[in-house]
Amino acid sequence: MNTIRTQVAIIGGGPAGLLLSQLLERKGIDTVVLERRSRDYVLARIRAGVLESGAVDLIREAGVGARMQREGIVHDGTFIAASNRGFRIDFRQLTGGSVMVYGQTELTQDLYQARDAMNGKILHEVDEVRIHGVDSDAAHVSFRWQGRERRIACDYVAGCDGFHGISRNTIPASVLREFERVYPFGWLGLLSATPPVSDELIYASHARGFALCSMRNPALSRYYLQVPLQDSVEQWSDELFWEELRRRLPAAAAETLVTGESVEKSIAPLRSFVAEPMRWGRLFLCGDAAHIVPPTGAKGLNLAASDVYYLSRALLQHYHEQDDHGIDDYSATALSRVWKAERFSWSMTRLLHRFPDQSDFDLRMQQAELEYLESSLAAQTALAENYIGLPY
Ligand code: APR
Ligand code: PHB
Repeated sequence: MNTIRTQVAIIGGGPAGLLLSQLLERKGIDTVVLERRSRDYVLARIRAGVLESGAVDLIREAGVGARMQREGIVHDGTFIAASNRGFRIDFRQLTGGSVMVYGQTELTQDLYQARDAMNGKILHEVDEVRIHGVDSDAAHVSFRWQGRERRIACDYVAGCDGFHGISRNTIPASVLREFERVYPFGWLGLLSATPPVSDELIYASHARGFALCSMRNPALSRYYLQVPLQDSVEQWSDELFWEELRRRLPAAAAETLVTGESVEKSIAPLRSFVAEPMRWGRLFLCGDAAHIVPPTGAKGLNLAASDVYYLSRALLQHYHEQDDHGIDDYSATALSRVWKAERFSWSMTRLLHRFPDQSDFDLRMQQAELEYLESSLAAQTALAENYIGLPY
């Protein structure tokens, strides 16, 4: 059997795995990335696109920020709409900060190009990946590639293989704890080659359900509707989507909405999920492999970035300073930020969606919380500081 030797074996070639590989390799630490899918498949995934300032800084530090700098859109605020009115949360004024709108698909493309430029070792279409010996000094990963059994001997394994990956389940059931909330609705997303309805995002709460207006660039818009989990994309023609979106937006936005044929349309379930611990022996979990947030707080990619920030520093400290404090603290440090982002994403979801079993009292609570948010700078500041990203 052909054995490859590396320092850090990374399972998963999504944004978390690629960003970690890029940061470590730039500092002379050897990595190999194993990705189950083809590169085209990974790049075809349509995902979110709001970056916290911490993620923007880390992407720049990884030497992958040039196109983001050119094509990304800085947003100093966002709109919250309810009962046919809207108000703006001014991130800049309230916190001095902002976010960057730049698609995850674009970022993943930039990361692959940067890896190629450094002759990064990324194996695509691997199969039967198994992690071994991470509770010993002989960690290794076995897998099938191009029809043959292969093996990577390594010091550490980074599980960046998403929610459906194998890394998390390598942690013994006696050690692993999972926390989950599944929401009784999904998000129907539509991408259209049309100008955005607003130059900032609109988060709309409506009796018919939540709606979100987002964008990728001045000619590419992304919209979402809260839909019952049982719905299928086939039930939602583009016409029906636009009609329903107009109903849920304040009149001013509904009138200016430019519609067109969908480029992509899909339904995603909403879930809050956290796995603890995020480290077991020589195995570290990063990104969706350890946690999922409902997209209402735009935290999915940003949490993957902060995990990678903590893990890359911990591994650099180990290899360059023979100091394992970062490695020993990784799980607690990453989880502390993860739970705060989970709380924020859950509270935004609870505030802005209609729940099937909602009582009249629940509805009044939502309305009172929205009115409080509109009238209180303190409440707006709390939302703004969470939205732009809590410090690392
Ligand atoms: N072996 C190798 N690769 C695997 C395996 C496996 N057994 N299982 C999954 N993968 C790959 C997937 O094909 C995917 O490309 O791991 C990658 C995980 O990438 P993501 O799911 O994008 O997760 P992550 O890199 O943590 O990025 C988190 O993605 O889903 C969004 O909202 C989420 O924005 C967040 C970001
Ligand atoms: C997106 O642009 O796809 C997007 C933006 C903000 C969110 C979720 C998704 O909260």
